[in-house]
Amino acid sequence: MKIFKWTEGRRKSKYNKLPLLLLGYGKPTLPFIGFLDCYVLRFGPGGRVNPHQDPVIVEQNDGTNDYYAHHRLNIIVKKSKQGGDFVCFDGPHKRFLNGRVHLFRSDLCIHSVTEVTEGTRYVLSIGWGNFTKPYKTGVPASD
Ligand SMILES: [Fe+2]
Repeated sequence: MKIFKWTEGRRKSKYNKLPLLLLGYGKPTLPFIGFLDCYVLRFGPGGRVNPHQDPVIVEQNDGTNDYYAHHRLNIIVKKSKQGGDFVCFDGPHKRFLNGRVHLFRSDLCIHSVTEVTEGTRYVLSIGWGNFTKPYKTGVPASD
């Protein structure tokens, strides 16, 4: 993925993303953090994100998978006029500033954005992973 280039968002959703920073992707290289990313997300009319989780999976030499915590801080820089609501459940999630800022575990929370019906929504999304505490499926790390 190239930085500073708008691309389509994930499959079955409708939004655009502009990577500003991508560090440690694909291999856990950054000490303590693991990976760090920053995107601008743009949701025009019809934009949405279907419910999903964002697990961070690293295959081990023995063929098993390790899973890592994936933290995400979403700052809604500009709200859409209608729609475009962030929905998050089934995991750690904190809201600040009247729902303008969301801190959540995107590997555990099922999260989505309702369809934007009017206006354009912009989000600054910062994510980081903790590669110090792997967990196996069904045994989430505590942080
Ligand atoms: Fe996500």
